[in-house]
Amino acid sequence: MTKPNNSPVTIHTLLQMKQAGEKIACMTAYDYSFASLLDRNGLDMVMVGDSLGMVIQGQQHTLPVTLNDMVYHSRCVAKGIKRALLVTDLPFMSYQQNPEQALKSAGKLMKKGETQMVKLEGGAVMAETVQFLVERGVPVCAHIGLTPQSVHQLGGYKVQGKDKIAAEILANDASALEQAGAGAIVLEAVPAALARTISEALTIPTIGIGAGLNCDGQVLVLQDALGLYPDHSPKFAKNFLQGTDSIDQAIQDYVDQVKTQQFPGPEHSF
Ligand code: KIV
Repeated sequence: MTKPNNSPVTIHTLLQMKQAGEKIACMTAYDYSFASLLDRNGLDMVMVGDSLGMVIQGQQHTLPVTLNDMVYHSRCVAKGIKRALLVTDLPFMSYQQNPEQALKSAGKLMKKGETQMVKLEGGAVMAETVQFLVERGVPVCAHIGLTPQSVHQLGGYKVQGKDKIAAEILANDASALEQAGAGAIVLEAVPAALARTISEALTIPTIGIGAGLNCDGQVLVLQDALGLYPDHSPKFAKNFLQGTDSIDQAIQDYVDQVKTQQFPGPEHSF
């Protein structure tokens, strides 16, 4: 362990964990009770994802989620967290217009949503915005690969970076975002070998979801980790509640399996 167990996790802790080879355990949450449960069971990062559009609001995708939705859920989650680093998504069209729009939205998420880091989707094209935010005191987590806010542009929820050119573009995106000052980067639905190459090339931690075992950390949607989402469950999800008799135990198992690199297995990877 690189930190005393109860010290609050900061963006510096994440870097130290990467340097020490300690895996970062992350999960989404959308309310006070689950945030508190994740925090007391050892999650290092809690993300208020705009996946709430699907798992909380029952929408088809994340596009209808508003900044006010994110502020509301982020504030609820913040009340339940003592140790984990809180990261909140900037929703669709709250940051893509220009860096100034992103700063205004991020400011609202930090002041009213009480978040500590904002997450935004997109590759090198977002580097200018990332730099603009970071230079003004807003920690940023980037998100590349399968970026759900671009579902219509991507033509569905498909694995990204499969051929040589697409893989090179993603590797360049990751490096541009790191240079712009991102503090971490989510890699979603990319081949495990590519995620490994990117993770090894970067100083900042990569947090994988459907990106194999060799990322610096893992994230899962809470509802997928507990088998609660009634609709489609992605290949990379695992129901940790199966075979246990409590939600606390399921979350502890997730943290243990991330830290000991038992999750994700090959069956959850591409
Ligand atoms: O919206 C979300 O929940 C996310 C995480 C799964 C990375 O983007």
